[in-house]
Amino acid sequence: MRLPFRAKEKLIVGIDIGSHSVKVCQLERAEKGYNVLSLGSALLPEGAVDDGTLHDPDQVGEIISQLLKHLKIKDRKIGFSVSGYSVVVKKINLPAMDEQLLKEHILSEAEQYIPFDLNEVYLDFQDLQTNRDDMAKTSIILAAAKKEVIDPYLEMFKAINLLPVIVDVDGFALENAYEYNYLKNENIALIDIGAAKINVNIISREASIMARDIVVGSRELTDQLQYEFDLDPEEAEALKLGASAANDRQEMIEEIFHTRCVQWMEEIKKTINLYHATNRREPLTKLIISGGGSNIRGLTQFLEKKIGLPVERFNPFTKMIANPKTIDPEYLKQIGPEMAIAAGLAIRPSAI
Ligand SMILES: Nc1ncnc2c1ncn2[C@@H]1O[C@H](COP(=O)(O)OP(=O)(O)OP(=O)(O)O)[C@@H](O)[C@H]1O
Ligand SMILES: [Mg+2]
Repeated sequence: MRLPFRAKEKLIVGIDIGSHSVKVCQLERAEKGYNVLSLGSALLPEGAVDDGTLHDPDQVGEIISQLLKHLKIKDRKIGFSVSGYSVVVKKINLPAMDEQLLKEHILSEAEQYIPFDLNEVYLDFQDLQTNRDDMAKTSIILAAAKKEVIDPYLEMFKAINLLPVIVDVDGFALENAYEYNYLKNENIALIDIGAAKINVNIISREASIMARDIVVGSRELTDQLQYEFDLDPEEAEALKLGASAANDRQEMIEEIFHTRCVQWMEEIKKTINLYHATNRREPLTKLIISGGGSNIRGLTQFLEKKIGLPVERFNPFTKMIANPKTIDPEYLKQIGPEMAIAAGLAIRPSAI
């Protein structure tokens, strides 16, 4: 006999499909918190995924299949997240009402808030229940994603025999990982620097206040190195990561990095300034950076100096335990910032 409270709540396998690589994270519930069961990533061919759109489902599906096989993950229930032009997240204020009424209200009013034809999107919402009494207004988060962008992912997963039970938004998954691992009462900015985009999500009083996708990212560095030194993409990537020697190109490389980092910083600063202009009483106390681009040497110090706030690298496994026999502690530490979204997805329960 198995008592229900003995059964471990099953979690989904988190799959973060970026434009540079796919990242997989599997956790299990432990007595206190979570154990990390497996982690891994695999590169994707250029153009296979772009601005959140899946262009090459066959190849991406094959790479995910191989990665799961390699990680010996047999569970079929997965969660993935999307971002980009096809996803719209809006925060609205409505009078507090019960869930059924709220649903009807949102379905009839959503056109006002969502810039797409409602027949062409998947729509979901969450009542943040910010109302202090029944009559007050409450904040609702609305999320809509275009079916034409989501459906190819669903079909790809089906073709490789996986069952997506959660479709999340990158920023929400990041926030989820943050909330579990960090103190909640701080005002902070989560900044995910990927290959093709920088996602800024400002969290204040335990809720996302402002979120923005900036369409710049670490791939620009690769592209520019490729162009300046007449390299192929692999050579440029190796040079960027320091895997091949810079030699007499060092000065030029530093200049390229510097110029790009200044541009990113300016964009990040715009969002932070906007937040501060409208939330004077809740100043940010720090920035938490994640994504592969956060590995750029010196970026933390650069942002600290230019933005004037402490900058920390995101470790989504701070409060989790990993068996050092199966997951190398060095790898866990190094891959942490890139795994933030996958870890945020992997916390979600599979029973829905
Ligand atoms: N040490 C490093 N220095 C510079 N860039 C790095 C370093 N390590 C990784 N990167 C870059 O980070 C990027 C990959 O980051 P990440 O895995 O977060 O992107 P992604 O999730 O696939 O992309 P996106 O979310 O933008 O679609 C690549 O452009 C890679 O070159
Ligand atoms: Mg990413």
